[in-house]
Amino acid sequence: MKKRVYSGVRATGRLHLGNYYGAIKGMLALQDDYDCVFSVVDLHAITTPYSPKLLQRNIREVVLDFLAAGLDPEKCALEIQSQLPHTDLAYLLSTIYPVSRLEDLPTYKEKKAQYPKYVNMGLLYYPVLMAADILLYKADLVPVGIDQEPHLEVAREIARKFNSMFGETFPEPKRFKTNGEYIPSLLGKGKMSKTVEGSYISLVDDFNEISSHLAKAPTDTGVEGGEIPLEGGVANLFTLLKLFSSEVTIVAFTKEYQEGKIKYVELKKVLAEDIYKELKPLQERRREFENQPDLVDTILANGREKCEKMAFSTLSEVKDKMGISVL
Ligand code: TYM
Repeated sequence: MKKRVYSGVRATGRLHLGNYYGAIKGMLALQDDYDCVFSVVDLHAITTPYSPKLLQRNIREVVLDFLAAGLDPEKCALEIQSQLPHTDLAYLLSTIYPVSRLEDLPTYKEKKAQYPKYVNMGLLYYPVLMAADILLYKADLVPVGIDQEPHLEVAREIARKFNSMFGETFPEPKRFKTNGEYIPSLLGKGKMSKTVEGSYISLVDDFNEISSHLAKAPTDTGVEGGEIPLEGGVANLFTLLKLFSSEVTIVAFTKEYQEGKIKYVELKKVLAEDIYKELKPLQERRREFENQPDLVDTILANGREKCEKMAFSTLSEVKDKMGISVL
């Protein structure tokens, strides 16, 4: 049997370069050789402030971005999390996991600090639901960015605990790493994030939009020279350059930096061109899917059918092992 892969993206709108490099590139790398399920996780999206009126549209945006990026519905099943029994499994798994461990997670503490008036049970429960997402499909590999490592550790702990209490059932899921597992913010501090305005470039941005986002990225005066800094605005521009530009371009700008001759306007122009060159085919493919809503609906219906078989089989097995009636 082929190994299983699972990954999910929250339905919080269109994807950005961080999502693309940290997660989607990994999904693309695995879809040929593994049994893959890729999900729009709408139930995770409602743990932070959101608009119910926009939720369905946001789900669709992620589906379109998945297809635009090249996820192939012939090779992988696409699911909408709330259409499958993720919460059933999450509840069962929550009964074997300590609350104190969830309260200690850095991701929970960050969200609490970001939304002090929106500290809800769903937020605390987030990693348990994420573990259930992965374990529902008995996935071995999870292509996600490095920020998700604490959540994967929870999934492994839950898998181990369940196996030891009720018998061998789940593999321990591992993170599949890409070469862009951490894409920094354009603002110079922290990671590129959908919830931080100005920090990201969206996959649907055109050349002018990419240029204007990059124009706001902080730099230095360019005359310092020496080694490229390890953090801050300049470091982040070079991180992007390494992902999107050719070796020759990287070497040339590195040399100019070291000699104190760098012109950031020039660097940002080349970078904007190289990013747009990579995004343009995705944007063209996205338009094709946007114009065929029935095809997208069929892809989702087929994905749901494939996922139901796997998901309900795991749920029945878990219920049976925990002594709960399956009927
Ligand atoms: P979300 O929507 O916040 O992020 C989706 C994916 O994008 C990655 N990512 C990044 N990678 C590199 N650099 C960045 N700046 C960056 N920003 C985001 C995230 O690591 C993620 O892979 N908890 C998940 C959603 C989820 C999930 C799952 C993932 C729910 N259940 C089960 C895998 C398996 C999340 O934060 O999504």
